[in-house]
Amino acid sequence: MDVADENLKYAGELLQDKAIPMFHDHNEALSSVQADAVMIITPPQTHMTIAFDVMKAGLHIFLEKPLTYSFEDAVEFVRKYERYDKKVMINQNYRWTPEIQAMKQAIANGSIGDIGYIDYNFRRLHNSNVDTWRVHSGEFLFTDVSIHHFDLIRYLLECEPEYVTAQGIRPSWSWCEGITVGGAIFEFPKGVLMNYFGSLSDFGSSTTWNGEIRITGSEGAVELCNDIPYLCGKGGERQELPLPQMLYSSQGYSLHQFIYSIRHDMRPDTDLMDNIKSHLMVHTVIQSIHRNERVAYDDYLQALNP
Ligand SMILES: NC(=O)c1ccc[n+]([C@@H]2O[C@H](COP(=O)([O-])OP(=O)(O)OC[C@H]3O[C@@H](n4cnc5c(N)ncnc54)[C@H](O)[C@@H]3O)[C@@H](O)[C@H]2O)c1
Repeated sequence: MDVADENLKYAGELLQDKAIPMFHDHNEALSSVQADAVMIITPPQTHMTIAFDVMKAGLHIFLEKPLTYSFEDAVEFVRKYERYDKKVMINQNYRWTPEIQAMKQAIANGSIGDIGYIDYNFRRLHNSNVDTWRVHSGEFLFTDVSIHHFDLIRYLLECEPEYVTAQGIRPSWSWCEGITVGGAIFEFPKGVLMNYFGSLSDFGSSTTWNGEIRITGSEGAVELCNDIPYLCGKGGERQELPLPQMLYSSQGYSLHQFIYSIRHDMRPDTDLMDNIKSHLMVHTVIQSIHRNERVAYDDYLQALNP
């Protein structure tokens, strides 16, 4: 299903003579086809409308990040989900790679001791040459890209921040109408600090989409450079972490988990109730930028309580 004729035509060419119905309108698809689940991989501005219609049809939902751009929509979504007996999973595929799993295992088995601080750097020159929804996004860096990084940090630390102080800019040479460069200081429980910097308008050497991550603790550090995970000792020695074998990774693992959670009636790790907390990291960053002040994450988390 796609609103654009040329995309449906192209899909038809790829599918050749397979008799798979195609639709211009998601409601038409929902009323014409018997299905168990819907994957919503459309621009973020359309996510809520489509998801709410799918909920009326009573199907499981696999939704691309970001959940939505608006906190108010996200709260409304959570309210509906609390009364919904089907799965709603957000695709946070960055979690499901061997390098991130290796870091997760090293932290979980105590290799770096008590975590003290996180240094997170993401730098790329990302040009959207065509006039798509990306060009018109207000806080594109944070809403569409940093969301992956914030979700990774929540996953690795297994906690949420308490306070956020952020700034963001739109460089004069940017292709995007909104923010493409910015930084945020996150204060986590027990005095743990994260310094985050992201740029989509960078002319220097690029990081990968994961970015460069260093998590330093009382006994050492884990770091990710060029998607290679390392364990660093107190004496400065550094060794590559072994990569776990994964039958599925990234998007493949997300899809596997979605189907598994339906078949076994389990909560997917990145379901709506989990993902709203990553979404809140983005929202509090944006609030901090707009209000030019340090923002309490918990004030917004409380707003999610019924
Ligand atoms: N998880 C990841 O790593 C990752 C990577 C890229 C994009 N994304 C996300 O996937 C989503 C889509 O991004 P994209 O790069 O594919 O965008 P895109 O612009 O390339 O494609 C979006 C498609 O949706 C169609 N569309 C627009 N409005 C629609 C509607 N109302 N109903 C049905 N179809 C509609 C468009 O015609 C287009 O074919 C976004 O939320 C984006 O953030 C996630």
